[in-house]
Amino acid sequence: MTRAVRLLVNGLEHEVQVEPRLSLADCLRDVLDLTGTHVGCEHGVCGACTVLLDGEPVRSCLMLAVQAGGHAITTVEGITPDEGLAPLQQAFQDKHGLQCGYCTPGILLTTHAFLKEHPHPTPDEIREMLAGNLCRCTGYHFIVEAVEAAARAAARNPPR
Ligand code: FES
Ligand code: FES
Repeated sequence: MTRAVRLLVNGLEHEVQVEPRLSLADCLRDVLDLTGTHVGCEHGVCGACTVLLDGEPVRSCLMLAVQAGGHAITTVEGITPDEGLAPLQQAFQDKHGLQCGYCTPGILLTTHAFLKEHPHPTPDEIREMLAGNLCRCTGYHFIVEAVEAAARAAARNPPR
């Protein structure tokens, strides 16, 4: 038996029919075709599936799609401009903050929310923020540098 749920994703409203047991991660990927949200552990450990729910990072593998109705969801597609890369994404590219990129969407969304609260983070604050996102490829060093570079770029060009 399916249920109708109205999802607001990246500013667009979708009415979808889903099984009540469908996770938000699987709904985003398989129903809405937003495959930038990655699924790794499927039990809340790796952070690959992180999206923003009303601006706060959440594990979309731990949430049911039907629970997300009425909330504003942002996926990595929602922070990516139509052309090119967002400054945060550019910083990851410039500083080699990714290798296979599997963890990157979750890290970008976690960082996006973090930098709003911590516009001038210390390396220790960045490492603490990243503790909830597992990367299988890198030693995190370049990721920390990328977040620092993004913070510096935002300080030079604050959003209007
Ligand atoms: S897939 Fe959700 S935390 Fe790993
Ligand atoms: S870049 Fe490969 S898992 Fe992080």
